[in-house]
Amino acid sequence: MINRVRSWWRQEDKQQPLEGSFDNVPEHVAIIMDGNGRWAKSRGLPRIVGHQNGMKAVKRTTIAADELGIKFLTLYAFSTENWKRPKDEVDFLMRLPQEFLAIELEELIQKNVQVRMMGNKEELPKHTLAAMEEAMRRTEHNDGLVLNFALNYGSRKEMTDCVQNLAKQVEEGIITSADITSELIDKHLLSGGIPDPDLLIRTSGEMRLSNFMLWQIAYSEMWFTDIYWPEFNKNHLYEAVAEYQRRTRRYGGLTSS
Ligand code: FPP
Repeated sequence: MINRVRSWWRQEDKQQPLEGSFDNVPEHVAIIMDGNGRWAKSRGLPRIVGHQNGMKAVKRTTIAADELGIKFLTLYAFSTENWKRPKDEVDFLMRLPQEFLAIELEELIQKNVQVRMMGNKEELPKHTLAAMEEAMRRTEHNDGLVLNFALNYGSRKEMTDCVQNLAKQVEEGIITSADITSELIDKHLLSGGIPDPDLLIRTSGEMRLSNFMLWQIAYSEMWFTDIYWPEFNKNHLYEAVAEYQRRTRRYGGLTSS
């Protein structure tokens, strides 16, 4: 496996970033990985082959993000709405995290990557959750790139749970309604402890947010590409980061002159 990673580096290192620098790299990049099905269809292949190749893009992107010095990489791997897909496809998607971790966990540990998961654990199959929990446990003390899988994640569910949790605390007299601030809400979201994404990427030409981190992306820069996720590589990430570096973030204020 290590040889495979090394050879990937040798191959890709010949390609340099289009432009941009290692200064002002976004701290947190979140990605809506879309287009696996269309990628497969365009090649006359079953959709699951698209997901399988999407997994390879996860690996490429993780390595590239780490190299760039990105601190948090959040990947939308399965939404609360994806359960509506055919059972075979759902079963396949639920096997991918364990397949990915079975191959990559040792390498992730070696690269000081910390694996996290953001989503509702209760509905996940036991084997999926067990693989994620093992990876989280074995990497919890790593302080390099945080690889955060949004798995069975939905923003509205996250916010609903947060509101219920805070309402209960008010009912029980633990806090008052005046204590509910933006910061307190942040802490009670599934992303608690992770800064808001600086850059949101969506592949496949779709321009929607699909119930992804709706609270957290209030001031994120967005970058859309027509590339299908299984084709996404280091250069696309570099391109997105270079575009991010050209933007001026104002957070509703004015540019200082
Ligand atoms: C959207 O494409 C993609 C998904 C619902 C699944 C994303 C999962 C991966 C990329 C693999 C995850 C890997 C790990 C390691 C967890 P789509 O199927 O909706 O594509 P389409 O819009 O072209 O049909």
